[in-house]
Amino acid sequence: MDEIRVGMVGAGFAAEFHTQCFQHVTGVPARVVAVTSQRPESREQFAEKFGVPEVYDSLADMLVRTEVDVVDLCVPTYVHGEYIVQAARAGTHVIVEKPLTGYTGELGVNDRLIGHTIPRQRMMDWVIEQCDMIEDAIARSGTKLMYAENWVYAPAMQKARRLVEASGGAVLRMVAEESHNGSHASYAKYWALAGGGSLLRTGSHPVGGALYLKQAEGIARTGKPIRPTSVTAEVAKLTDNTAYAAETDKQLNVDLADCEDFGSALITFEDGSVAQVTSSDVVLGGIYNHVQIFTSQGRIECNMNPNNQVVAYGPHDHAFGDEYLAEKISTRAGWNFASPDEHWASGYPHEIQDFCECIAEDRAPRSGWMLARDVVATIYAAYVSAEEGRRVQIPHD
Ligand SMILES: NC(=O)c1ccc[n+]([C@@H]2O[C@H](COP(=O)([O-])OP(=O)(O)OC[C@H]3O[C@@H](n4cnc5c(N)ncnc54)[C@H](O)[C@@H]3O)[C@@H](O)[C@H]2O)c1
Repeated sequence: MDEIRVGMVGAGFAAEFHTQCFQHVTGVPARVVAVTSQRPESREQFAEKFGVPEVYDSLADMLVRTEVDVVDLCVPTYVHGEYIVQAARAGTHVIVEKPLTGYTGELGVNDRLIGHTIPRQRMMDWVIEQCDMIEDAIARSGTKLMYAENWVYAPAMQKARRLVEASGGAVLRMVAEESHNGSHASYAKYWALAGGGSLLRTGSHPVGGALYLKQAEGIARTGKPIRPTSVTAEVAKLTDNTAYAAETDKQLNVDLADCEDFGSALITFEDGSVAQVTSSDVVLGGIYNHVQIFTSQGRIECNMNPNNQVVAYGPHDHAFGDEYLAEKISTRAGWNFASPDEHWASGYPHEIQDFCECIAEDRAPRSGWMLARDVVATIYAAYVSAEEGRRVQIPHD
């Protein structure tokens, strides 16, 4: 089998863990052969660190000057749609990080406070149009869109899916959350770059996980996915709290300009089941990824992070030197959940392995177009609901 040549787009946090995962793919030869990112020094450093031989100024340059089988978009949301279309038109498969896309504005990135001014219904209409445009480009090119929603691949979620299928029960209710103490990424501050606040940026994961479980349940039972139909939601900027504003020793890493730092949505599916999904940037104690699944034949809990495989006590911050403990903990002193393999628990290696096998075997990924589109449509319907105070139907294709 020919080697799969990967073009990495972005050289930040997600690009790093994707590249590490490509280096561990088994059974399918795959290699990151090229990288591009916005800043020359970051892409040069990235190439040096991961032994990537080719460095390009832009995606357009990469697509013209070298042969890649797939591009991996690990860039902020505001360029996802444009880059997917560019790559598909060049006949290249696409891996895209969550979320698929978001409203980044007819006004362009210079008007950075669109989150304060643009009605959510207008945003949702724009996002759905953009989804149609992406779908059209992918369909015309015959390439694959692989949606890097790691919750789909997390071993805990796959175990939950197998347990549900083995029991034959119906998933009646899910409670899912991804939260932490604020994004590391500077683009997260602005709606025009991130496409939304906490509910989109972080909430994509629990929404994606819940939607995937219902898709899988439907496919296992009748061959047809069970899709979300409507949503009610609330969003807030909890860090506008006056007592928090007065604190001098802030522990949260939240500095959002025009985005919410909390969102909670109640999603209803076409079989009448529900998912209660929450995301927030105001949760201390390390990243929190948790799902409860209530079925007619059982009850399942998935503790992706933190999990207590290893708990470690250090009398001070430096007790364990440079050894990694867990994502987004604000202290290393005291008791900590020291994740033995956080990438594995998060499903990162599994998603990259699946995507490489999809390309080699010419099959669909576990996490593909329908999930990518339904997640962003559901979250934008949730934004409309939160603004207008009503249940909103989720627009389908
Ligand atoms: N699955 C996960 O757990 C997870 C975790 C973090 C981020 N993400 C996703 O990964 C994507 C990137 O986030 P990140 O945390 O790596 O951000 P980051 O800020 O760490 O890195 C972003 C990279 O994109 C580059 N970039 C920015 N604008 C660009 C442009 N117009 N063209 C080319 N390159 C550009 C930057 O130079 C940088 O190298 C986002 O979609 C985010 O939602 C997913």
